[in-house]
Amino acid sequence: MAEISLRQKIEEKKAVIAVIGLGYVGLPLAVEFAKKGFLVIGIDLDKEKIEKINRGISYITDVSSEELKKVVMKERMVGFTDYSQISRAQIAIIAVPTPLSKRRKPDISFILKAAERIARYIRRETLVVLESTVYPGTTREIILPLLERSGLKVGKDFLLSFSPERVDPGNKRYKTGNIPKIVGGIDKKSTQLTRLLYQQIINKVIPVLSPEIAEMAKLWENTFRAVNIALANEMALVCNRLGIDVWEVISVAQTKPFGFLAFYPGPGLGGHCLPIDPLYLSYKAKLEGIETRLIQVADEINSQMPHYVLGRIEKILHRAGKRLSHSKVFILGITYKKDIPDIRESPAIEIIKLLIRRKAKVSYFDPFVKEIKIGKKVFHSSPLEKRVLQEQDCIAIITDHSLNYHLVVENASCILDTRNALAKIKGKIRTRIERL
Ligand SMILES: NC(=O)c1ccc[n+]([C@@H]2O[C@H](COP(=O)([O-])OP(=O)(O)OC[C@H]3O[C@@H](n4cnc5c(N)ncnc54)[C@H](O)[C@@H]3O)[C@@H](O)[C@H]2O)c1
Repeated sequence: MAEISLRQKIEEKKAVIAVIGLGYVGLPLAVEFAKKGFLVIGIDLDKEKIEKINRGISYITDVSSEELKKVVMKERMVGFTDYSQISRAQIAIIAVPTPLSKRRKPDISFILKAAERIARYIRRETLVVLESTVYPGTTREIILPLLERSGLKVGKDFLLSFSPERVDPGNKRYKTGNIPKIVGGIDKKSTQLTRLLYQQIINKVIPVLSPEIAEMAKLWENTFRAVNIALANEMALVCNRLGIDVWEVISVAQTKPFGFLAFYPGPGLGGHCLPIDPLYLSYKAKLEGIETRLIQVADEINSQMPHYVLGRIEKILHRAGKRLSHSKVFILGITYKKDIPDIRESPAIEIIKLLIRRKAKVSYFDPFVKEIKIGKKVFHSSPLEKRVLQEQDCIAIITDHSLNYHLVVENASCILDTRNALAKIKGKIRTRIERL
């Protein structure tokens, strides 16, 4: 294996990098490498995305169209739907989705397809890096044999690593370059060259002894968050029953300088990571005969939150002498988190479904989502204006987008704030506001 030449190509930015899957993870990564001078070949099965990339139009909030256009114009980045382009690359990074199946089991079909197709075109001296979140053992036990179908041998002909992605879409402070990155190669050479590769765009790269450590670290990080959010949700339920403000409790508890870390309750988990990754871990544990009870309970608590929100809306309406059926309920924010357009697994969608089932008249506003299909019905975002707000029987803040909340408070009859979005609104408020 001509390791030296690949090392040199990386150091001299002459290595051609293929990024497979150009979504929230793949596109920012591809653009970072292209900005550093590498030639990046982006591969995605979605024709529309590839057309946009080649016209310099970004569809990801964390990548501006300006920066994308710049690298496309300089011919540092080009998109294809065709995997045969991989034969031009010395590095292939896989960033395709790893969702759950309908039965809530890991669906790794996207990475399997990607690996099978890479195997058709991979050449000697290529480094393959898996970035998609997977359960421990996937890189070695599943991806490696698929790549070896090419007739090439790992270690001798090509290199293979796992390096989990930690990007936090919408985070203004932490972006690709300043989020430390873990790399775990199948062998020492794979780890070394993967480390060198990411050092070109990331301040701190942490090598670990195996892909399994890196795979497990990623799942642990997100399971830690999911379990702690479940605890915060459980505390919110207890506090509400006791008539204690949970947000005040968190704000004082976190004055302890050690041993406490603030997590916040909310309407339920969303996105492509937190509701999913813990179940990847429990699936693998189960295969080994271990029941991960804490993960299961956390999943149950978090999954119940949309139902709890429905119950709170119903109570608010009841106090105003109204019934849920035929009441106008306005959902403020339907993406799974603040200031990004991602609606995957968003609890708002579950809440809207529950409200419709109970015959409430639902409408919504979200600055990032103009329309959405839920069941058979297409909803269009209503304008956020006085008249619309005044018409509602109840407004539920589900996502705390950066908005003019004064306008909301001044014109609503009652509000359920599931995110503490109104914490900063001071002064005399006539509107009835309930917090989670
Ligand atoms: N979104 C996040 O915040 C985040 C953070 C950390 C890790 N991750 C992990 O990163 C991985 C990718 O997530 P994402 O959010 O970027 O997903 P995404 O859906 O935004 O992007 C994935 C892209 O892959 C494309 N694709 C699907 N199958 C393909 C195939 N066989 N070949 C080529 N392209 C294909 C899709 O068209 C899509 O554009 C997942 O494993 C996820 O768990 C996501």
